[in-house]
Amino acid sequence: MKLLVTGGAGYVGSVCSAVLLDQGHDVTIIDNFSTGNAEAVPEGATLVEGTVEGKAFEVLSSDSFDGVIHFAAMSLVGESVEKPAEYWRNNVGQTLNLLDAMRDTETRNLVFSSSAATYGEPEKTPITEDMPTSPTNPYGATKLAMDYAISSYAKAYNIGATSLRYFNVAGAWGGLGENREVETHLIPLVLQVALGHREKIMVFGDDWPTPDGTAVRDYIHVKDLADAHLLALESNKPGQHRIFNLGSGDGFSVRQVIDTCRKVTGLNIPAEDAPRRAGDPATLIASSARAMQELGWQPQLTDLETIVADAWEYTRALGSRAHSARRKIN
Ligand code: UFG
Repeated sequence: MKLLVTGGAGYVGSVCSAVLLDQGHDVTIIDNFSTGNAEAVPEGATLVEGTVEGKAFEVLSSDSFDGVIHFAAMSLVGESVEKPAEYWRNNVGQTLNLLDAMRDTETRNLVFSSSAATYGEPEKTPITEDMPTSPTNPYGATKLAMDYAISSYAKAYNIGATSLRYFNVAGAWGGLGENREVETHLIPLVLQVALGHREKIMVFGDDWPTPDGTAVRDYIHVKDLADAHLLALESNKPGQHRIFNLGSGDGFSVRQVIDTCRKVTGLNIPAEDAPRRAGDPATLIASSARAMQELGWQPQLTDLETIVADAWEYTRALGSRAHSARRKIN
């Protein structure tokens, strides 16, 4: 397939692009490097530098594309609470531009990177797709708004679309992983402490209604997540918008994640309790039964130790590259 990937220089976008290329697809990436890295653009992909708003129509009208995967978005819960205007303008505005470009060029196959943050604080776990959506932060609200926009465009303009609601993505694949200028995610931060790049990890809240008082999340390996995108693209039907949750189906607390990182790295990782972070829900655990049944998705790397071990291998390699670059400068 000839595919457009927006945000293909970001974490999930780059791994997904690499998986698509590995399976023989033709990949064009639009990325403005606002959070992505040029280094993460996989070899073999065509890169168009710019925003979705500026480039999507130009790219889609230049050739016949079989589908689009839309990752480009701002995606940090805490930041979205502080800068909602940027989240609404960027996430929703750019998506509407992309949908218009798809309608105008008759590109009728879309996979969208949605989020567990659309559900907010769930009434019960695991979360199924028919449960109420009530986001606890602007990030989740923008993802939900985009899901609604996609539903209406799919029906009216005969686009086949799938929203994949990711739970907590982690791990690395094909030499690609989490490498953000400003890191806020738990696993990469804990591993940076292990590497000695940070003094300690702050545990945001020890008074959540969870077994050990720290927040519980469902961690999914980025390679398993990438596989689901291809399955969705291959099975989209014009006029239909489907929604699938993607997680490993098991919840781990912040303390359990830190302990797993200690076990995998064999290193002492200092941690300190801190107040809750604004916008965080207590527990998010996915039911991925619908994706398994309807997409035939079978996650292979669901074990938290495997996810952390892959992230650790990547973080160490990244750390030693940064170290040798610093030595060259000095
Ligand atoms: N946490 C800490 N200390 C840190 C960083 C994080 O205690 O230094 C805690 C957070 O408060 C949260 C948990 O670890 O309870 C996981 O936090 P992350 O920042 O790693 O991930 P989030 O759960 O906030 O969000 C991620 C994605 C979202 C997605 C969500 C769905 O960034 O896009 O998972 O579960 F919506």
